[in-house]
Amino acid sequence: MQDFLNLIKDLIRNISLTLQSILLYGESHTRSVKSLEFLYRNFEDFFLKEAELNLGIVGEEIFSGKEIFFELSGQVKDFIRILRDKNIDFLRFKRGLNLEELKGFLKSLGDKEIREDIFKISWPHIELGRFGEEKILKETTLHKVNIEKIISLQKLLCENVKDSLLQTIEGNSLDFSFLIRIVNQLFALLTFRKEFLFLLLNLGREQDYTFIHSLNVTLLSMFQAKILGLPPKDISRIALAGLFHDIGKIAIKRKVLEKKGKITEGEIKELQSHTLWGSKIILSNPNFDRLAFIVSFEHHLGVDLRGYPKVRFLKRQNLASKIVAVSDIYDALRSRRAYKDVMPLERVYTIMNKEKARLLDSYLVDLFFRNVGVWPPGTLVRLDTQEVALVREINPQDLFRPQVEVFYDSKGKRLEKTFIVDLTEKDKNGNFLRRILREMSPWGEGQRFISELLGEKFWQRLINRV
Ligand SMILES: [Fe+2]
Ligand SMILES: [Fe+2]
Repeated sequence: MQDFLNLIKDLIRNISLTLQSILLYGESHTRSVKSLEFLYRNFEDFFLKEAELNLGIVGEEIFSGKEIFFELSGQVKDFIRILRDKNIDFLRFKRGLNLEELKGFLKSLGDKEIREDIFKISWPHIELGRFGEEKILKETTLHKVNIEKIISLQKLLCENVKDSLLQTIEGNSLDFSFLIRIVNQLFALLTFRKEFLFLLLNLGREQDYTFIHSLNVTLLSMFQAKILGLPPKDISRIALAGLFHDIGKIAIKRKVLEKKGKITEGEIKELQSHTLWGSKIILSNPNFDRLAFIVSFEHHLGVDLRGYPKVRFLKRQNLASKIVAVSDIYDALRSRRAYKDVMPLERVYTIMNKEKARLLDSYLVDLFFRNVGVWPPGTLVRLDTQEVALVREINPQDLFRPQVEVFYDSKGKRLEKTFIVDLTEKDKNGNFLRRILREMSPWGEGQRFISELLGEKFWQRLINRV
């Protein structure tokens, strides 16, 4: 495994060196030719073991689909900068790659004249692109979604996570394959229905807060990992890391965890120690993935490393911790607790943007909102026309004005034929035709509408989780 990782690191380093040589001396210079041949042999060795090499760029960091590592980013800065300049988010080299193709590709990467048009050139074994945007299935309506299946998977997962926690405390070794299977199934059901994912996030019961929060963080982190184009194996690893990110809270007194009023300095320290407890618990269990340990330790550290626990030697947060931190804050702000209501979506957007480059990675925050908008698909909203609508799809050019499906007229009467409205549409005087007044909470004024849309029976199953 370690050898294989080194092989990937060598490959990235040699791609970068060859590119530098081509930039400095041109592709026909002996240095560049030698470097290219050496790189090509590297690729040949790699393709004996693997069918493709995936590379992704997040901010100033490079990662490979096979391993989320960063020590390398500092050494290949120029390579990252060149990819950034050309707006390339990911690169894929496939088995069958030949020397001429590789040379042609590196040459056009180094060519300052070729910018966006690089996407138009086609190479048989090299793919490049931008991180995708998840599309929902337009024809899917809420009541057709397989809610029964989702609820039973969620229940199964809840029981298994609780069981795993007990096993971990008792020091037993765990078998994660089952957990991974359920998480993957649940995710597969939700990815095609982004709207349902966000509806589900809003429906956590207070009593199950810690579990629901962990599950929400898991799903949101898988969602981000998918947008980043990580391979399924890594999405599962991030899922498990998300599921157990707050495991250290089992070592914190309930009284402190659930305290509503002002908390003392001592209590803050105790709360913060959940990161240390978590990483200790995970470390003591050999079956846990290293990534779960890292995430549990780092998720409150912040990209500026000024959060907690205090660290002296760490240079940067792992990509997985950055992903989980975005999910963690989003879900914490959006959760409904006995002592606090759900935070309005526009405020969540503002706060998360304020945390850029401090607690959160700027690039990931942007990518997240580019994909879910301020009003995520699945949000029930009241329009200024008093109509009731469900957010269907975001408009990347205006995150505050998505496309919505209107279900109820201004008098609250269910429409026989629903219609889709693009909230960026204006009348001939340049005024917007409609705008969102507010989100309608599924627990408050939206309850009647959501339960009607889902069907009363399904709604009851969903809120009672039976
Ligand atoms: Fe935490
Ligand atoms: Fe958390």
